[in-house]
Amino acid sequence: MRRIAAERELVRRVVRELSGYRPVESLESVARETGLPLDSLIKLDANENPYGPSPRVLDVLTRPDHYHLYPDAAQEAARRALSAYTGVEVGQIIVGNGSDELIDLLLLATIEPGDEVIVPVPTFGVYLARPPLFGATVRAVPRLDDFELDVAQIEAAISERTKLVFLASPNNPTGKLVTSQQLVRLLRTGVLVVLDEAYYEFAGRTLLPLGREFENLVVLRTFSKWAGLAGLRIGYGIFPPVLAEALWRVKPPFNVNVLALRAIEAALADLSVQMQKVIRIRLERGRLFRGLRRLDFLRPYPSRGNFILVHVTRGDAHDVHRRLLARGILVRKYDDPLLRPYLRITVGLPEHTDRLLQALREIAAEVAS
Ligand SMILES: Cc1ncc(COP(=O)(O)O)c(C=O)c1O
Repeated sequence: MRRIAAERELVRRVVRELSGYRPVESLESVARETGLPLDSLIKLDANENPYGPSPRVLDVLTRPDHYHLYPDAAQEAARRALSAYTGVEVGQIIVGNGSDELIDLLLLATIEPGDEVIVPVPTFGVYLARPPLFGATVRAVPRLDDFELDVAQIEAAISERTKLVFLASPNNPTGKLVTSQQLVRLLRTGVLVVLDEAYYEFAGRTLLPLGREFENLVVLRTFSKWAGLAGLRIGYGIFPPVLAEALWRVKPPFNVNVLALRAIEAALADLSVQMQKVIRIRLERGRLFRGLRRLDFLRPYPSRGNFILVHVTRGDAHDVHRRLLARGILVRKYDDPLLRPYLRITVGLPEHTDRLLQALREIAAEVAS
């Protein structure tokens, strides 16, 4: 039998050396590890929507038809619905298998070897993990002390090799919005700005209209958060026409499945119902923030997303994470040195907030003793 080549011969160097983006563990594996029943776990680690999708979406998902046919590669009905929702031309919209896929497609379509991508950190890890796979070098630009964008440093980092800048608004995990002044300054440099509005519906503020004025703005959105559809993988992007055309050329023809395409139409037809859940989450975010602020070993940051970043000011964040996990509560911890003393907590149901705050009060007593 032919010898299987060593990893060194088989796998690209950039892939061998990549540390990658580490997604959160599955509930099943957490249940196995902790010995706790799966349905007792409270999942506040991935910014999912505990209310799930709207009734019309659930109805579409349970209709057993058309699965033997390929999805519409042109995504026409879904894109028309998104055009009505966003107010932009159908031709500028492309749907992806999650906005993660659109990030990859964007890099695939634009990066030449040696190009640079600017990423203000801390932020969503995918912006750091993916560009090297496409031949780009990441230039991480630290934020200011309060996690505000350091626009001057971003401008200073822009060179002829810069292909694009990734910005999230609200930013994951800090919860901060990009202001229109900050965005306009960066758009005026002429560099392509990718503005990720994954949490737009929770913030109630978008900078998408600037796309009418600037041809170097891409806006990414997702149905994973507000629409409660993280499991279906639906993201969409709004691209300047030249880029949209390039993305169609690199997009796998059937990248979005039949159910996801139909769910887009159904979710948008049910917008007012789903937005009630978004409003509930926004109200709960306030209650969670106030509860966290009362704990003297934590400092929560105001957030416009469906999550709150918390600085563990006494004790160790990983230890707090472990103690929460032992009580069946999952929150996001970080290995990145910039975020090591922080936890990110997704806003859940009111009873999740109650159990979390109770657990944190117990942990405060344990840490103090
Ligand atoms: C800023 C940001 N962008 C994109 C995503 C991923 O979105 P999707 O589920 O559509 O791939 C996330 C998920 O956590 C995120 O925080």
